[in-house]
Amino acid sequence: MARALIVFESVFGDARTIARAIADGLSGSVQVDVVAAADGPAEIGPDVDLLVVGGPNHGLSMPRPSTREGAVKQYGGEIPDTSRGLHEWLEAVRVPHSGTRAAAFDTRSDHPKLLVKMDRASRTEEKLLRGHGLPLLAPAEHFYVTDAKGPLADGEEDRARRWGADLAQALAAQPAGRG
Ligand SMILES: Cc1cc2nc3c(=O)[nH]c(=O)nc-3n(C[C@H](O)[C@H](O)[C@H](O)COP(=O)(O)O)c2cc1C
Repeated sequence: MARALIVFESVFGDARTIARAIADGLSGSVQVDVVAAADGPAEIGPDVDLLVVGGPNHGLSMPRPSTREGAVKQYGGEIPDTSRGLHEWLEAVRVPHSGTRAAAFDTRSDHPKLLVKMDRASRTEEKLLRGHGLPLLAPAEHFYVTDAKGPLADGEEDRARRWGADLAQALAAQPAGRG
């Protein structure tokens, strides 16, 4: 059975809910593990066929120490260590083999319209994935929250489940050699 690893960052729980829903969608034909970036492995093993990463948009990109501190001070977010998250994990993780495919997602405000089009944490996530030589299995997906602290907009959890199922299909259609 193919194996997937989903690594997420989440301050208010929305990206974590999406990560788990994607896992649900994948789980029909793929064995899936879901971990927070703070607990992410130091190395991606050759047994991982698909790596999915995702987290919130913060200040038009991925969260970083200053925006995590902003989330704590302005919105009462609880972050034990603001110096580490998905970006830092993606920079540090080792991928010493080929054969793993990747995909990225982010969560973001559903307004205003201009902002919705502009910011893309997932763009940076994809750049970091490509930096490890990981081919992208599918274009990034974006999931919407109705306010900074959530909740997710109606239907987003179901959409994440469907995206997970689509990723499983794409993985089966484009099997990569393990090496
Ligand atoms: C400090 C901070 C900056 C944010 N900046 C943006 C932004 O630039 N664009 C956006 O769409 N949402 C922005 N948001 C809203 C977040 O995307 C939202 O909090 C997140 O998607 C919720 O996911 P989470 O519950 O997993 O943390 C920001 C939120 C915080 C706390």
